Amino acid sequence: MTLNIGVIAGDGIGPEVVREAKKVLDASAAKNGFEINYTEIWMGGCSIDKFGEPLTDEAIALAKASDAVLMGSIGGNTATSPWYRLPPEKRPEAGLLKIRKALNLFANLRPSLLYDELKAACPLRAETAEKGFDFIIMRELTGGLYFGERSTKEVDGVMTAVDTLTYNENEIRRAAVKAFEIARKRRKKVTSVDKANVLDSSRLWRKVVMEVAEDYPGVELEHMLVDNCAMQIVKDPAQFDVVLTENMFGDILSDEAAEITGSIGMLSSASLNDTKFGLYEPSGGSAPDIAGKNIANPIATILSAAMMLRFTFDLDEAADQIENAVKQVLKEGFRTGDIMSEGCKKVNTDEMGSLIAERL
Ligand code: IPM
Ligand code: MG
Repeated sequence: MTLNIGVIAGDGIGPEVVREAKKVLDASAAKNGFEINYTEIWMGGCSIDKFGEPLTDEAIALAKASDAVLMGSIGGNTATSPWYRLPPEKRPEAGLLKIRKALNLFANLRPSLLYDELKAACPLRAETAEKGFDFIIMRELTGGLYFGERSTKEVDGVMTAVDTLTYNENEIRRAAVKAFEIARKRRKKVTSVDKANVLDSSRLWRKVVMEVAEDYPGVELEHMLVDNCAMQIVKDPAQFDVVLTENMFGDILSDEAAEITGSIGMLSSASLNDTKFGLYEPSGGSAPDIAGKNIANPIATILSAAMMLRFTFDLDEAADQIENAVKQVLKEGFRTGDIMSEGCKKVNTDEMGSLIAERL
């Protein structure tokens, strides 16, 4: 079996963390007897520098031709990088939005898991951290405010900006189906998050999600307003299993869900379409301040590679091995700077990658 993996190293810490994920994937391939064929794909600031745009048609074609894409991160310092003096559609993030749309990656899974070993790094109350939590945000990724019509123009002499939030029932349905499918394999609970007390799009969201729920009698469905959900995530995150929500709410809630795990450097994510294809990336950003210093935490990217083995290639055992190796390394007390605590052994990016690869 040969896995055709497109690799977007990207900007900032991207190349360093992707290098470590490839190290772990190669070790897994050797152990489990599969082959990997990597194809380099340019996206983000590095693509702007090289080709004058954040994502070329050729890059999209290469991604489409891959079974899956592993991505580091894109973007730079928005205050100082020249990329942010370009018009919005030429900036690094535009490449990311374009690839999501071009590959129809409507389902974005962002796990939020508190590792036993990292409970001390959890910013929540001690008793909340002690209980632990393990939930997934299923964020709709190709609709809503991100892709609605927008404009900035003068109306009656006043500068006016408009963004539009549109969802049709098909977009809602396919996202909901993914959420229920995932919940069925977990603790069988979906919390659908909306703002149905104000927004029409949320009222349609709620209606369609309830229809989908009828096909999953074994899965419990609850509805929660987004402001309440933001509060519940810090108050009692253990209540959640799968949180289903629209694009913008998911963007915001997933950063909050990441922060409570102690470090965004630990969290993987997957963006999926209707096929087995997926784009796998760490939840964290490009962290330009620490780029090139070999101190970034590569675990989120390594866990994203594990998700890829599981979701795209059905290599569950190989994925389990990686996840267990990560837990093992944490148990042994190895930490990158972002998750360092007293009594632990501080390691840099490439040491962390090697430690995990050795423990598969
Ligand atoms: C994310 C990021 C992106 C988003 C940005 C970089 C466009 O914040 O993946 O959550 O808003 O979707
Ligand atoms: Mg975000």
